[in-house]
Amino acid sequence: MRATRLVTADAAGIAEAARRLRDGGLVALPTETVYGLACDATDPRAVASLYAAKGRPSFNPLIAHVPDLSAARRVGMFPPAAETLAGRFWPGPLTLVVPAREEATSELARAGLASVAIRVPAHPVARAVLAAAGRPIAAPSANRSGHVSPTTAAHVQADLDGRIDLILDAGPCTVGVESTILDCTGAAPVLLRPGGLTREAIEAVLGAPLAAFVAVSPDKEAAPLAPGMLASHYAPSVPVRLNARTVNAGEALLTFAGARPPGSAAAAGVRDLSPSGDLVEAAAHLFAFLRELDHAGAEGIAVVPLPRHGLGEAIADRLRRAAAPRSADRSPDLTFRH
Ligand code: TXA
Ligand code: MG
Repeated sequence: MRATRLVTADAAGIAEAARRLRDGGLVALPTETVYGLACDATDPRAVASLYAAKGRPSFNPLIAHVPDLSAARRVGMFPPAAETLAGRFWPGPLTLVVPAREEATSELARAGLASVAIRVPAHPVARAVLAAAGRPIAAPSANRSGHVSPTTAAHVQADLDGRIDLILDAGPCTVGVESTILDCTGAAPVLLRPGGLTREAIEAVLGAPLAAFVAVSPDKEAAPLAPGMLASHYAPSVPVRLNARTVNAGEALLTFAGARPPGSAAAAGVRDLSPSGDLVEAAAHLFAFLRELDHAGAEGIAVVPLPRHGLGEAIADRLRRAAAPRSADRSPDLTFRH
């Protein structure tokens, strides 16, 4: 049990966060995507305590967060496409997987892989903490493993109070879904996780369609091909039903653009991701609304069909995981495709 302090992300809070990180502590901090649970990526004891606090399977590697591209080049080796994408989209909601400089982060943070996932976040508080900490910071989303990612400090507190040292509160996250992850270790970048940066924006810079990840090996002993692609990763406690055209008795409704399918009037709770039909606003609301409806006392959550373009791709991915049956062994989702 740790005493978890919740503090405002002002200058004193940022200084305390950096100090605790250098001392091997666990600090939840805001990024533009979701709140991250940060620790020193060079300190294997800190990384081990982070896995324990999240209850995360330790084969799942962590993203190294750094303040800028020059710091990123000290953590990994950047092929030309990764240089181009980093130059265009950092700071921002993009994570690049590149060959690791293995001495720069602990092997435990990379889960033993020869590659490393790197991100330069855009949130001013995250950037200030990274600059003050002066070392790569590992930061998965600040939720218990298998739970919905947190977009407010209160969500973090609900999941991790008593398990971490500090929560920096800077209000709700603006993007609301995690970063887009591209594997840049091969001949052409491969989309591992759709996220806050749209496929369309990336393809416009690459001048070519993004290759999709396809799993080829069901060998659960090996490190996962696309680690973290657990089928049921973003899981409310009640069943989630996608592409719902009616609301069944006892269900809550997650809707979009004002849609009210038959049965809505009797729904156990209703949240509209974006009454005006804006996918950016929808992404920002997604995790908070899933949590709210999960706590509405409903027997399930019905979700209306949503657009698939732009941030709709990441939203659909997270909803598909929220709706996936809970697997007892939490084995990697080998059907992950785009
Ligand atoms: O927006 C975000 O990315 C947030 C904020 C806090 O930065 N972080 C986040 O981290 O979503 P996490 O740990 O929840 O998700 C990181 C994903 C996992 O699916 C992990 O398996 C994958 O990145 N990953 C990390 N290193 C990798 C590697 N070397 N190769 C392939 N995937 C990797
Ligand atoms: Mg996560």
